[in-house]
Amino acid sequence: MEQLVYLNGEYVPLSAAKISVLDRGFLFGDGVYEVIPCYQGRFLHFNAHIERLQASLQAIRLEVGYSVAQWYELVSPLLDAQCDQYVYLQITRGVAPKRDHLFPTPTVPTVFAISNAIPPFVEREQGVKALIIEDNRWLRCNIKATALLANVLLKQQAADQACAEAILVKNGYVTEGSASNVFAVVDGVLMTAPKSTAILAGITRDIVLQLANTHHIPVSETPISLAQLKTASEIWLTSSTREIVPIVEVDGQPVAAGTAGVVWHTMNALYQQYKLLAL
Ligand code: PDD
Repeated sequence: MEQLVYLNGEYVPLSAAKISVLDRGFLFGDGVYEVIPCYQGRFLHFNAHIERLQASLQAIRLEVGYSVAQWYELVSPLLDAQCDQYVYLQITRGVAPKRDHLFPTPTVPTVFAISNAIPPFVEREQGVKALIIEDNRWLRCNIKATALLANVLLKQQAADQACAEAILVKNGYVTEGSASNVFAVVDGVLMTAPKSTAILAGITRDIVLQLANTHHIPVSETPISLAQLKTASEIWLTSSTREIVPIVEVDGQPVAAGTAGVVWHTMNALYQQYKLLAL
């Protein structure tokens, strides 16, 4: 049976889900999204993801007015308790009679949701390679906006060099990855950029910081300088779909010994344990 997706109040087969070419998501990238991990039919931090979605909607001045419970009800039919999935939710400023930058009145948002399998990441422990690239994105990266052209180009630039992620640097400091947050262990302290408009406040980032605090791993939400990145004993990326991944090579140079570090091993074990309890 074909996969069902949610579109504007209906659950329809994927091939039957259609939107207008005048949808502002298509014309302007005028929308926001969320990616929520779901293990065997149970969400990890559903509320936090929906709160971030509400913040993104508010930031772009788009009102949908669904409660957390209503969002839950909306996505529930898309879940499969037999596998690990992520739910992708996208809300745009809807369809206008003609292309016009100004908000349409009335605005009827387009609401779309789909679930996809999270493929098992068997090489996690081997780690991945990353490329340092200048962060040339806009100044409101705290909004989970569908307009991801800069991120797309940055990640592709990294992939063209056989790298799994671009580590983005602005004014000599790491902001985040093209689709992840970045952590580094520098002089025994786990560092990551503080929340600001320069990064997306990752839900996985929050969990990692919370686990570090409760397990007495020294942490600092301080920008990582390029110099610190180069001397870091460990570098990781975090995201809801990839969890915590060691970065073992940056710009062709190994990070320390070029293998996943001891702090990563500890944190990864804590995260896997936490996940089971939090679901
Ligand atoms: N991206 N920063 C950026 C730019 C991201 O795109 C993401 C995640 C994160 C990590 O956030 P979280 O831990 O809440 O997943 C940070 C998702 C997975 C995506 O765009 O597919």
